[in-house]
Amino acid sequence: MTDPAIGDAFDSMWAALAPVGREASSGGYRRFAWTAADAQAREWFTSEAQARGLDVQRDRNGNLWAWWLPPGGRDHDALVTGSHLDSVPDGGAFDGPLGVVSALCAIDLLRARGIKGRKPVAVVVFADEEGARFGVACAGSRLLTGVLSPARALALTDADGVSLDDAMRKAGIDTAALGRDDELLRRIGVFVELHVEQGRSLVDSESAIGVATGIWPHGRWRFSFTGRADHAGTTQLDDRRDPMLCFGEAVLAARVQAEQFGGLATFGRVIAEPNATNGIASKVTAWLDARAPDQRTLDRIVIGVAERAGRRASMEQVESAVGNESVTPAVEFSPKVRLMLQDSLGGGVPELATGAGHDAGVLAAEVPTGMLFVRNPTGISHAPDEFAERADCLAGVEALADVMADWICA
Ligand code: GLV
Ligand code: MN
Ligand code: MN
Repeated sequence: MTDPAIGDAFDSMWAALAPVGREASSGGYRRFAWTAADAQAREWFTSEAQARGLDVQRDRNGNLWAWWLPPGGRDHDALVTGSHLDSVPDGGAFDGPLGVVSALCAIDLLRARGIKGRKPVAVVVFADEEGARFGVACAGSRLLTGVLSPARALALTDADGVSLDDAMRKAGIDTAALGRDDELLRRIGVFVELHVEQGRSLVDSESAIGVATGIWPHGRWRFSFTGRADHAGTTQLDDRRDPMLCFGEAVLAARVQAEQFGGLATFGRVIAEPNATNGIASKVTAWLDARAPDQRTLDRIVIGVAERAGRRASMEQVESAVGNESVTPAVEFSPKVRLMLQDSLGGGVPELATGAGHDAGVLAAEVPTGMLFVRNPTGISHAPDEFAERADCLAGVEALADVMADWICA
């Protein structure tokens, strides 16, 4: 049974964060990296962490770290936990924030229990996890680990043509200092990200908490189809060069390929130009998000979609191009960390793989990493209906606190 004060702390943080970047028309969140809403969420974190006496620092890549250092103890071998505060367009309240709020509550719980460790704890808020504005997911953790080069990152632009360089500078970051941060990485003993489950496995296994085994390889590809703008009411069908037909073909191909090979493939974002009801489009740009249990399957899905769309493009006399925007290889979380999580939680916790990307997937290549999932009753995510019961969230806090206690006292 969680200390009622921890439940109160959870409720009060949740309530304070709830209006930040919330879009009234959809009830979802639009907390895009380096916007005013993102800044407000980051300020919220800084003040909550400072109110707890944690030492808050922004790293060279714009990620926020709140350190709980043991008096006279080490400043390395830290248990780092946390997640992100940015969102997808009209995203849910839990994806990211649950990990951050739970991390702060877990520290409260350890303090309430009088637990003082020998090793540090840090709560991290990774910048730009969703990549909703500049296209590359996990930009903050990829910069930290050097997987994303500063040159490539800074040249990214948003839909209005604003560069990441300009957006970060405006937020007060010295973008000349971006890049891999060995000193900071060396301080991490283990990284444990708590996250709302983005599926229904835990509902089926009747457990509030799960341990992640790994993340499917996944990526984003940009498809562009360039045809010829013309009149919708006068251009004969045989005379058209309509890029929308190629897009339609690609959407259906994504579904067919995913079904055939047992992966997932989605077109969720499209830009039609000039976007006229009574005109044939001149150009369609669309983004494929594809994920699969292994790299070979992922490749087969994407190649199949590109081939089928390309064939259609030739038939329609439309130019087509496909470019990869990001790819994340398969991640297997450290068996040692999985065992450590199971031990701290008393064993028997269901284990599951996920198709969703996380900063933990990026960190896993550098430091021992694991993840805890909190049950989501509908499995819905990246949408306003994303949800977790309060009791399950508090069970997540307890679980994280138990893991923390075992690490810092060992
Ligand atoms: C992030 O949540 C992703 O899986 O795209
Ligand atoms: Mn997400
Ligand atoms: Mn997330």
